[in-house]
Amino acid sequence: MTILVTGGLGYIGSHVVVELLNLNHSVVVVDNLVNSDIGVKSRIEQIAGREIVFCEVDLCDRAGLTWVFDNHKIDCVVHFAALKAVGESVEKPLKYYQNNIGGMINLLSVMHDHGVNKLVFSSSATVYGIPKTVPIKETSDIKAINPYGQTKVVCEQIVQDYAASNPNFGVINLRYFNPVGAHSSLLIGENPKGIPNNLMPVVCNVAIGKQDKLKIFGHDYDTIDGTCVRDYVHVVDLALGHVSALKWVMNNSGVEFVNLGTGKGATVMEVVQTFEQVTGVKVPFEIVGRRAGDATEAVASTDKAKKLLAWQSSKGLADMCRDHLGYAKNATN
Ligand code: NAD
Ligand code: WQD
Repeated sequence: MTILVTGGLGYIGSHVVVELLNLNHSVVVVDNLVNSDIGVKSRIEQIAGREIVFCEVDLCDRAGLTWVFDNHKIDCVVHFAALKAVGESVEKPLKYYQNNIGGMINLLSVMHDHGVNKLVFSSSATVYGIPKTVPIKETSDIKAINPYGQTKVVCEQIVQDYAASNPNFGVINLRYFNPVGAHSSLLIGENPKGIPNNLMPVVCNVAIGKQDKLKIFGHDYDTIDGTCVRDYVHVVDLALGHVSALKWVMNNSGVEFVNLGTGKGATVMEVVQTFEQVTGVKVPFEIVGRRAGDATEAVASTDKAKKLLAWQSSKGLADMCRDHLGYAKNATN
């Protein structure tokens, strides 16, 4: 098959492209490089030993996107391209609505014009907001608490409405929990532009001396050590989840929502301890006040992913810490 991957030079997209190439699919990547760099293309090709087609196109540029579909016979789309910084989305909500929702509407319109009916969409556990119970099932309440999260809620609604109008359309909304880690080659991974906000990139920055210390946001939560619990999932496991989702959409029509997580929670303190044990590098930290909008605990129910996609994670927190740091060191050299 020929698979269009939007945002395919980004962190998660690049790992998915590698797995698709490993399965002998042809891959066309559309990315505007707003949060990635062109060097990722050759590193993907080095890992997989095959070439991809790269189109530097913004999803908000409908003419550019139409050109891509006119010139390549696409069987299925995996849609990653979006802005994802929660804090920035609060400061610049219109930028986020324009990019993430505008991009989705253009993509679906151009797919419709070209008779392409299969989509895997990168949603997020952020759609659950502050969950009432854990583990979080796909049927839990949807209540995003920031503009970024709201763009994912709206995109999920748009694909549902579109699917209701097109009986041939098949889509899976994948709700990722906390993706971390890197490909075992350490040639691709997470390379945030500017100062990161997420835990593992900050931990790695501290470990390689780019930041002085980790600030732990709150130690008075109702958890085993007072710090928040999250479901960290290795990016290569996540990529394999997309391969399973792709199989489902190629054989089915309709809409599905599936969590991709491990089903196992870890506190911030446990992440720091595991990181130090696995890498042998100390991570100085200080406890500061809570961060606005943080849930005490967010862990996936993994039953649906197992049942519908026959997918489950295989890598543990130790692999995630080792690989994330391995790539961060490589990216710095
Ligand atoms: P990323 O920023 O590394 O990758 C996104 C890619 O999309 C980048 O290469 C960027 O240049 C590109 N892009 C953005 N807007 C574009 C546009 N208008 N046109 C063309 N290209 C555009 O992010 P990621 O971590 O790989 O995340 C991928 C997807 O997964 C996003 O939709 C994100 O919201 C979602 N997600 C990420 C996480 C996470 O923690 N990383 C968690 C849940 C969901
Ligand atoms: C994890 C834990 C922090 C940084 C975010 C987005 C979500 C999704 C995944 C895209 C929390 C603590 C963090 C630091 C800390 N992205 N922490 N010090 O908040 O679960 O989810 O990324 O869809 O939408 O909100 O991940 O990595 O930011 O935080 O103590 O410097 O680490 O308080 O408990 P989060 P995170």
